[in-house]
Amino acid sequence: MTRTELLKKAEREYAFKVSAAGRVNIIGEHVDYCGGKVFPAALALCNTVYVRPNGTNFVNLKWTTLDCEVSLDLDKLDDYKYIEYGNYQAGSLLMGKRAGLPLAGCDMLHDCTVPFGSGLSSSAAIEVSTIAAMCAITGAPVDAVKIALAAQAAEREYVGVNCGVMDQYTSACGKAGHALLLDCATLDCEYVPLDTGDCSLVIINCKKPHSLVESKYNERRAETETALALLAPLTGIGCLAELTAADLEKHKTVLSANVYARAKHVVDECARVAAATDAMKSGDMVKLGALLDASHKSLKELYEVTGKELDALAFAAQSHPACLGSRMTGGGFGGCTVSLVKTDGVEDFKKHVLEKYKAATGYDAEVYETRVGDGITITKL
Ligand code: GLA
Repeated sequence: MTRTELLKKAEREYAFKVSAAGRVNIIGEHVDYCGGKVFPAALALCNTVYVRPNGTNFVNLKWTTLDCEVSLDLDKLDDYKYIEYGNYQAGSLLMGKRAGLPLAGCDMLHDCTVPFGSGLSSSAAIEVSTIAAMCAITGAPVDAVKIALAAQAAEREYVGVNCGVMDQYTSACGKAGHALLLDCATLDCEYVPLDTGDCSLVIINCKKPHSLVESKYNERRAETETALALLAPLTGIGCLAELTAADLEKHKTVLSANVYARAKHVVDECARVAAATDAMKSGDMVKLGALLDASHKSLKELYEVTGKELDALAFAAQSHPACLGSRMTGGGFGGCTVSLVKTDGVEDFKKHVLEKYKAATGYDAEVYETRVGDGITITKL
């Protein structure tokens, strides 16, 4: 059966259809796990779970795009860490259980439109939608923040990426037409209308897939923890995002060159998030664009998480006259860029970027047509 046929059939045969979003981070990269504010938006690209109770003690998984079936024993959820498919679901259910959510045997059909390894949080979408689907069939209240935290625990404790909370929070709590100004220290969230005036956000995949498990993600996080451990006794900060630029300069001699560079990125990126939300609210797209460019430069030079392909893609974008700014989005080491582009120049911009990127790297980049969507949505079928 084709995917379309499978989805049509699922609409008839399952009890609920539960989706959670992928996300694009507009700005605020690698600061969530430092207690900083981030500025992401949920995308219409999402993971959808069709779910129905099956009266057993198993969760039977199927996918619209994979020819395989996996059964998870609800009493042995710890055992599935290293399976090829289904480990994200097993980890999410286990962490949901630890958070006090009831589990029940069910059939789940997963359909993911977030491209894997693209830096658009396909894993968060899978984790959040799996837990929300379980809530739907057990009748547990759908507490989006609780689900996001359980999903984050799955990524950290089961999958092994020591991530922050941005992706899962956005996947669960996103709102169509809005970006989220999320304070990752307190989880306070302000919904800011995503009004880019005569400009559009364009997301392009460099097509070098990234795996955060294998990438230096955990290493970067450890470096920021070193910075905090060394600077906290000298400055009284509780998280790295509280560090001032002046204090960083004052105490820089206690840090190695690398750790200083990572901390400087965090301090500067937090300032850029504040400036970018002001720019968005006041409709200053030129300012917002300049902040995107500065963010990319910092992620390349100070945080060192971009790599050849993402740099080539961002530079190709930045060199087009309709582009006000462009940066990598997500964890880095591959995946996507987000660019702010004058809407009437978007078509020419895309052509230019794809050609220039191909000439520089030999890869065909891919442009995503999507919009800003909602977080968790549950439909009774
Ligand atoms: C990944 C992580 C997030 C965040 C970003 C970088 O997407 O899952 O928690 O740290 O990288 O901003």
